[in-house]
Amino acid sequence: MTAGGGGSAVAGGPALHIPVLGRPAVEFLQPRDGGIYIDGTFGAGGYTRAILAAAHSRVIGIDRDQTAIALGANLVEQAKGRLTLVEDRFSNLDAIAREVGYDTVDGVVLDLGVSSMQLDRAERGFSFRLDGPLDMRMGGEGHSAAEVIAAASERDLADIIFALGEERHSRAVARAIIKARSSAPIETSRALAEIVASAVRSRPGDIHPATRTFQALRIFVNDELGELVTALQAAERILRSGGRLVVVSFHSLEDRIVKSFFADRGETRGGSRHAPEVKRPTLTFRLLTKRPVVADEDEIMRNARARSAKLRAAERTDAPTRAGVPSDLLPRLPSLADVLRGR
Ligand SMILES: C[S@@+](CC[C@H](N)C(=O)[O-])C[C@H]1O[C@@H](n2cnc3c(N)ncnc32)[C@H](O)[C@@H]1O
Repeated sequence: MTAGGGGSAVAGGPALHIPVLGRPAVEFLQPRDGGIYIDGTFGAGGYTRAILAAAHSRVIGIDRDQTAIALGANLVEQAKGRLTLVEDRFSNLDAIAREVGYDTVDGVVLDLGVSSMQLDRAERGFSFRLDGPLDMRMGGEGHSAAEVIAAASERDLADIIFALGEERHSRAVARAIIKARSSAPIETSRALAEIVASAVRSRPGDIHPATRTFQALRIFVNDELGELVTALQAAERILRSGGRLVVVSFHSLEDRIVKSFFADRGETRGGSRHAPEVKRPTLTFRLLTKRPVVADEDEIMRNARARSAKLRAAERTDAPTRAGVPSDLLPRLPSLADVLRGR
C-alpha cells in the first residue's frame, strides 16, 4: 500500500490520459465537503483531481498499475492529506477503505479499461500498433498474454477470443495462432498482430483486424470482468445509504454486467397485478440513469476513446447488502489456471 498527503492546489498536472465522461461522472458522485470517495481506477488522476476540486472531500485512489500510483505522488502532495493512493485491485475496494480507516464511503467511481499511458507504452504489450513484449498485464502480478498464447489449447483460445473479443472469426484466429506457435514462440505484440491479420480479412475503413483479439486477451489476462463483478458487490457493501456508485465502461461486455447488476439490485421487476404476491428481494440501489449517459459530439471530436463510453450511476438505499449476483453475469470460460495447463 502507498499512502500520503501534503500540498494545496489540486487542478492541473500532466495530461497523460484524457479522462472520458469526467464531468458527468463527478456530477453524479455529488462530492460534498467532508465526503469520502473511492476512485477505483486512479490512472492519471483525472477523476480524482475533479473530485478533490469539487469539494473539500477525501479520495482513496486505487490502481493495480504501480506506474500510475508512482506518477500520482505529486497529486498526493498537492492534495494536503486529502488523497491516499493504494496499489491494489479495485475488487478489494471495501477492504482497502477499511484499512485506510473508513467503514463507509460516500461514493465509488470506476472508469474501466486501460489508460492511454498503458496503451501508448510499447513495452506493456497492449497495442497492436506498437512492437513490444506480449505482456498486457495492468499490474505486476499474474501471467502475461504471451504465456496464455503459448499454453492454451486451440479450443480455449477460440472460446476466449469469441467471448471476450466478440470476434466472429475466432476459430480461424485460434488456428492461425496454433500454427504459428508450432514454428516459433509468439512473444511480441507485432508478431501476434500479423498472425491475426493473416486470419481475419478486413476492408479499408474497418477497425484493425487484431483489435478484437487484443481486447479479448487483455480482458482475460487481467480477469477484467471478474474484477468488475466483485467490485460492484464490494461497492454495495461499503457505500453508506445515499452514497453513489458511478461506472464508466468501454465495451458491451462491461456495460452488460453493470446494467444487469443495477437491474438486479435496483429495479422492481414487473409481475402481473393478478398473479399471487411473490416476495421480491430488497433493492439495494436506486437507479439514477435509466439509459446510459454517453459522450457528446464535442467530447468525441476531442477524444476518440469517448465514442464507446457509457456511464451508469445508482444511489445506495438503506437495505442490507445482498449476497450473490445473477448467475449469467459472467461469460462461461475456462479459468486462467486451466488455460495455462493447456487442458
Ligand atoms: C481508463 S483508466 C482511468 C483513468 C482515470 N479515470 C483518469 O482520469 O486518469 C483505467 C485505470 O484503471 C486501472 N485498472 C483497471 N482495472 C483495474 C483493477 N481491477 N483494479 C485496479 N485498477 C484497475 C488501470 O490500470 C488504469 O490505470
